[in-house]
Amino acid sequence: MVDEKAIQAAQEKFAVLLRKQLERVEVLKNEPDWTDYSKLDKLIIGVCGGDGIGPYICASAQKVMEVLLADKIKAGKVEIRQIDGLTIERRVEVMKAIPDDTLAALKECHVILKGPTTTPKKGDPWPNIESANVAMRKELDLFANVRPVSVPELGINWVFYRENTEGSYALGSDGVNVTDDLAMDFCVATTQGTERIIRAGFEHAKKTGVNYVSLVTKANIIKTTDGKFLSIAEKVAKDYPEVQWDDWFIDITTAKLIDPARRSNFKVFVLPNLYGDIITDEAAQIQGGVGTAGSANIGKRYAMFEAIHGSAPRMVTEGRAQYADPCSMIKAVAMMMEHIGEVEKAKKLNMALDITTQFEKKLVMTGRDTGATGDEFAQYVLDTMARPDIEKVWQGYIDESIAKAKN
Ligand code: IPM
Ligand code: MG
Repeated sequence: MVDEKAIQAAQEKFAVLLRKQLERVEVLKNEPDWTDYSKLDKLIIGVCGGDGIGPYICASAQKVMEVLLADKIKAGKVEIRQIDGLTIERRVEVMKAIPDDTLAALKECHVILKGPTTTPKKGDPWPNIESANVAMRKELDLFANVRPVSVPELGINWVFYRENTEGSYALGSDGVNVTDDLAMDFCVATTQGTERIIRAGFEHAKKTGVNYVSLVTKANIIKTTDGKFLSIAEKVAKDYPEVQWDDWFIDITTAKLIDPARRSNFKVFVLPNLYGDIITDEAAQIQGGVGTAGSANIGKRYAMFEAIHGSAPRMVTEGRAQYADPCSMIKAVAMMMEHIGEVEKAKKLNMALDITTQFEKKLVMTGRDTGATGDEFAQYVLDTMARPDIEKVWQGYIDESIAKAKN
């Protein structure tokens, strides 16, 4: 016997979700223009540490950021604001993904540096509230999750453009238990939301001159939303005749990332939210682990920079939080520098990160007292950045690894 009442109740919930998404489409149609950082009297950078190892690695990264921006901070051109309240304890206290006062404080900033936050799942000791990350991406409309991965000696230079506000994440906390036996989640793709992320990927390919985009979906199975993603790509691609592009399925893409014969051909990936989440962890692992990769969450008005990994609460309970690797957060700082127009500073910091983590490795992070602390590593990065011959040193290592890759 079909439970007609359950269907009715589910339909009502579905109608609410549809209404919200259609309202969102109307907002997307009137998006603001990109913030022009060069026109601001003062750039406000919010820093929130998050949970677990977050406050530790965020503090190390903040030190690097403050050295890079020292002149501008002194001149009053940049203000750094500490923003509290993004902890799991506080979020649970108010039962919100982001407490209202914290969200208001975030919205007064232009860019944000954010430590990892704990995301409860069913069965955890915390109530199963929505992820602070996902909520922030949605609230601040940070639609492009940009994640670069590079391994010079393997010829790998990838940038992932992960859609960050839609897909399976958009209603990830709004699924419906229709009856005790039937659960349904939803996946969202809007024309506007899809087009802007694909355009961002193509723009990047064009701007950097790599002129190659790989679009990743599972459009053979997830026919409606992924199908839309693919057909909008076909349309957008027409505006970029110089950019070559192809489409891939997510399953084979995960395999090809570890195929030495194919992987260095890839350059720019554009993909829906969930596939982007999964494959960027794989890509980061190829680079040396999720601790090494940064993540930019970019919207037209706001941008937020973070690690790509979680809050590792176990490291805190085991008393090893000070040994957590801050490189992912420092990488996020480099991405922030680039985003706010401090291109030279970004370049130097990236060089210092390459030298310290991939080439010289005078200090190593092991996650325990057998390795360096996060603060020691941050200092190592700063000392490397201060070397007057850094460009030459870096170029030397790169040439060496390219030569090695050829052999
Ligand atoms: C990421 C993380 C987040 C995500 C979690 C922490 C909500 O895995 O940034 O990739 O799933 O997007
Ligand atoms: Mg992830």
